Amino acid sequence: MPKDSTQIGAKETRTSNISLATVIAEMMERGFGPKGAKKLITNVRDPLGWASDTTNLTSDGYTILNETSFKQPIGKILTETAKTVNDEVGDGVKTTIILVGKLLDQAQRLIDEGLHPRTVIDGYQKACQKLDEITDSLSVHLKVFDDALLKNIALTAMRSKIPYNSLDHVANLVVKTVNRASEENGAGRKLDLANIKIEKQVNGLLSQSYFFDGWIVAYPTSRYGMIDRVENARIAFITRPVDAFSMGDYSAKGDFVKIEVTKKEHVNAFSEKEKSIALKMAQKIAASGANVVISNWNIDEAALEYFSSKGILAFKRLLMPDLSRIQKATGGLFVERLDDLTPESLGTSKLVYIEKMNDKEYAFFKGCQNPKAASIMLRSGSAFLVDEAERGVKDALSAIKETFKDPRVVFGGGAFEVEAASQLKTYAQEIGKRDQLAINAFAKALEELCVLLCRNAGTNPLDILPEIKTRHEQGEKWVGIDPYKRNIGNMKDLNVYEPVRVKLQAINAAFETVEMLLRIDYSITAKLSGEKKPHKEKTAEEIEKLEQDMIPKVLEQTSDKYVQPWEKGLQK
Ligand SMILES: Nc1ncnc2c1ncn2[C@@H]1O[C@H](COP(=O)(O)OP(=O)(O)O)[C@@H](O)[C@H]1O
Ligand SMILES: [Mg+2]
Repeated sequence: MPKDSTQIGAKETRTSNISLATVIAEMMERGFGPKGAKKLITNVRDPLGWASDTTNLTSDGYTILNETSFKQPIGKILTETAKTVNDEVGDGVKTTIILVGKLLDQAQRLIDEGLHPRTVIDGYQKACQKLDEITDSLSVHLKVFDDALLKNIALTAMRSKIPYNSLDHVANLVVKTVNRASEENGAGRKLDLANIKIEKQVNGLLSQSYFFDGWIVAYPTSRYGMIDRVENARIAFITRPVDAFSMGDYSAKGDFVKIEVTKKEHVNAFSEKEKSIALKMAQKIAASGANVVISNWNIDEAALEYFSSKGILAFKRLLMPDLSRIQKATGGLFVERLDDLTPESLGTSKLVYIEKMNDKEYAFFKGCQNPKAASIMLRSGSAFLVDEAERGVKDALSAIKETFKDPRVVFGGGAFEVEAASQLKTYAQEIGKRDQLAINAFAKALEELCVLLCRNAGTNPLDILPEIKTRHEQGEKWVGIDPYKRNIGNMKDLNVYEPVRVKLQAINAAFETVEMLLRIDYSITAKLSGEKKPHKEKTAEEIEKLEQDMIPKVLEQTSDKYVQPWEKGLQK
């Protein structure tokens, strides 16, 4: 270890990591579930990563963590976990991070009692494996994906993000979009999210959002000429400038040419030359039969004028991601050398038109060659609301996509968590030994998710949870909290579907993060002077002895019908 580094001992490191991670995870708690609160985040980064003076209003777990600037590595680790879950299954981020917090909290209690962190990890791992089995046996295997079912999956995933009065409307749009964009593939259905475009408009009401059979693009620059509608579009995708900078095309070597204008009277001639080159290029493009031209580069004024006179609709400087998505939707090919532009390289769509809405222009590609292309236009007078609605719609689409991959579902509202926890506890008893402590702790952490749903619904978990647990003991395995009625309800009857893939991803990602955090035994801050602390690891025999001594004590403490931390107030 370099002289100028500080080293913090194993116990202190773990304790401080756990308490920090627990605090960060608590950030997610109030926003959890359909009645969760939102966070107001200011100074968010723009898409290029620069800090900007904007504000974000969200309950999205990943957005909250990603927009919070953490100095501590723990914050970054949790943000990574959120990102993984978001990328993998697109929903369940808060479930994951809250579970991380609760598992660490429980782990700390056990460690304080004398259990070695390794033993906690082993027990958690066994719990995780068992949960796989429990989830499978609890799950319902969906056979037919009718509209009602798709809608229910969408509703469960996006309830926390879409205002109640527009929820039904937006869910219908999601179902329409999924029906358009998905395909049957022998074994079942498949949804490729690349087929779906979500556009946003800060204007109107969320209930005026609409589905569009094709592709919508917010057009960044103003257009030249008056053409705003082309039927039976044949679309050329040009990935090079249509202007004199492309003189290379016309030089003998096929290379770019360097031009120096040394005399004043040559300036005019040069500008004429520029125009004529652009014109030639435009004529070449038109000769392919294209009546729509799209480029991510500049298109010279002279070329635009020519296109306009020929009834050709031209888009310049379109963003590359938009360009490639339109290309994918309409089936065209990117062309860099104009000689390669043939009628076969053109994409097609039945109709292309431009609409101006609230000072912003949108291009609509209707009836694309790829029949799976579908768009949703989200509208709201508030930019916050429309951004949050977009995150909600993405959650819903992801949840449906995951259910297509694995058609097993469980039911939400805490019902799954309470049932799985109860079965885990039975398993813990069978296993006995030290492992049962950690497995029981895992079960408690799961129950805490139901506690939070109760709390965020404005009910008192002390009233509700015991009843939910009792009903589960009596065999009603899908009883959970209905946040709208503020009472318990059967989540299966209420159609609160949750994909197994999302649930298992949340549980496994939470476990992996907890394992990683519990395994950190030193934190080293490089290049700072400080005192090194002598550290002595316990021997295996010492650990064995300590743990054997503590088992009866902890079991006794936890046997009291599982006294939760929040129950303590009641017991007084
Ligand atoms: N109608 C409902 N009734 C009860 N619980 C619901 C309902 N809709 C969603 N939930 C619950 O909300 C939780 C998901 O909340 P959400 O805020 O989306 O978190 P996450 O980021 O984990 O997806 C799940 O536990 C789900 O069961
Ligand atoms: Mg969700």
